Formats: sequence, C-alpha cells, structure tokens
Amino acid sequence: MIQLKKIRRATRRDLAQVAEIDARITGMRKPRYWAGILRRYPLFLVLTEKARVQGYIVGEVRDWEFGSPPCGWVFGIGVRPDARLAGAGTRLLEAICAEFRRSRVDKVRTLLARDNALVLAFFRSQGMMAAPFIALEMELRRSP
Ligand SMILES: CC(C)(COP(=O)(O)OP(=O)(O)OC[C@H]1O[C@@H](n2cnc3c(N)ncnc32)[C@H](O)[C@@H]1OP(=O)(O)O)[C@@H](O)C(=O)NCCC(=O)NCCS
Repeated sequence: MIQLKKIRRATRRDLAQVAEIDARITGMRKPRYWAGILRRYPLFLVLTEKARVQGYIVGEVRDWEFGSPPCGWVFGIGVRPDARLAGAGTRLLEAICAEFRRSRVDKVRTLLARDNALVLAFFRSQGMMAAPFIALEMELRRSP
C-alpha cells in the first residue's frame, strides 16, 4: 500500500508551513524562531501528506537536567486544525519517542500550560502522567 503520510526530519523548505501552523495555534508568526529551532535541534520532525506539512514535533535529549538522568523532552507539537483527530499527533509522538529510545533514554517529559486542556488531554491519552517536578518562575525587575 502506498504510504501517503510520512514522518521525516524537517528541512528549510518546511519552515514556512511549520511557522504557519504555529501561528494558527499561538496567534504569533515567528519565522526566525523556527529557523533557529532547525539549526539547533536535530529532533525536529514533520508529518507530511504529499507536499503539505500537517504537523510537527520538536524535542531533544537533555542530560542530567535538574539532577535527573538523561531523558527525552518534547517542547513543541502542533497539528493543522483541519488534520486533527486522525492520529497525526500520536504518530509524531511515537516517532520522536523512537528516536529517544535509539539514544538509549527510557523516559520522555514535557511541560505545558496549566490551562491548555487540549494538549493535556492529548498527552494523557498517550500515557503521560504528572511528573515529580514543579515549575517555578519570577519576574526579573530591571536593575535601577
Ligand atoms: C494536541 C494536538 C497535537 C493533537 O493532535 P491530533 O493529531 O489531533 O492528535 P491525535 O489524533 O493523535 O489524538 C490522540 C488522542 O488525543 C486526545 N485528543 C486529541 N484531541 C482532543 C480533543 N480536541 N479533545 C479531547 N481529547 C483529544 C484523544 O484522546 C485522542 O484519541 P482519540 O482520537 O482516540 O480520542 C493538536 O490538537 C494540536 O496541535 N493542538 C494545539 C497544540 C498546542 O497548543 N501547541 C502549543 C503548546 S506545545
């Protein structure tokens, strides 16, 4: 059977479509950010159907971050609104997890906004659970 949907590493030619999908999700267009992601992160995958990018996922293996052994981190995922609920997100996560396994890590983590119920539902459906960490932040005031 001909496989119409493929997952492969992102290339420069995919960046405009990735930026467009991201802009539809976040409301912000940031082509320079995506060019930087492509330069810095080899685990930047896209799911394509013919020449159309339907979704992307970005992550990396981080070593001993926060004192924990090397593990895979997913820090960006997006699927075109008209291509959702057809398994694209699942396939992208499976593909990056396969890469993590090849790097010999046995855990994957992500961080998401507390009010992003859609992404939470997605990651929970994949078997991800609350991790034994909490995120902290503070405002950085300008020095006088
Ligand atoms: C989250 C997202 C990647 C899921 O992609 P997708 O291709 O629709 O995911 P799948 O089709 O593989 O769905 C897998 C499971 O996730 C859950 N899920 C996905 N969308 C859901 C929704 N709208 N409501 C509830 N559960 C949902 C379901 O359990 C689903 O399984 P099911 O179809 O058997 O019920 C996509 O909705 C998206 O891009 N959302 C915006 C992402 C975002 O906000 N990114 C910024 C922060 S990184």
